[in-house]
Amino acid sequence: MIGIICAMKEELEEILIFTKDKTEETYGNFKFVKGNIFGTKCVLCLCGVGKVNAAICTQSLIIKYNPDFIINVGVAGGIAPSVKIGDIAVASGVIQHDYDISSFQNRKKGEIPGIDLVEIKTTKWITDKIIVCSSSISPVNTHTGIILSGDQFICSPQKLTELRNEFGGIACEMEAGSIGQVCYINKKEFGIIRSISDHADNSSNIDFDKFIKTSSRNAATILSNFIKSYQD
Ligand code: ADE
Repeated sequence: MIGIICAMKEELEEILIFTKDKTEETYGNFKFVKGNIFGTKCVLCLCGVGKVNAAICTQSLIIKYNPDFIINVGVAGGIAPSVKIGDIAVASGVIQHDYDISSFQNRKKGEIPGIDLVEIKTTKWITDKIIVCSSSISPVNTHTGIILSGDQFICSPQKLTELRNEFGGIACEMEAGSIGQVCYINKKEFGIIRSISDHADNSSNIDFDKFIKTSSRNAATILSNFIKSYQD
């Protein structure tokens, strides 16, 4: 069974369109939708926006359903200059850009104490398969790299430049880093598919509203191709 997590209903709706035999279950604070996508059993969940919501949801999903692996699907703001609205960002790793204990000696910005990592790498076979599925769809451009997460909607060129210089990264959003942390701690394989809704600049709030639907559809399309090819 594949676990699929989205933060917003607009992102989930695009996946529910091709999910068959749906049944709903509530566990804790979350409604889970069980179903099948092209013959593969899946469990889908709406986690809500932000890292804490995403972490609670990911842990609940693992405890209740123990999926084989987890895919987080949705939209993101573009960070790398070459990343354009509608493009696909596939995470090779995730960083929580707002995690900061760097005032302590030998601690780097983004480093998570306990596991002592800045970047949590996504699972290679999942990421490689997503890239193949995404790259086969023209005219969508696929970018692979670090996705930056924080409990902030990035809406300023200054912050964008700061993130670019501090961490590199191709895109920013608000959940993948914590989903990655929970998966890492639970030794659960995971991958991240995001489509760009905005440029994380002064107009990102307007662009986000304008493009959330089409970008969510792009991300859902890559997921559907991934699941089709997963069965082969
Ligand atoms: N998700 C989509 N766009 C975003 C942005 N600019 N900042 C944070 N999360 C986002």
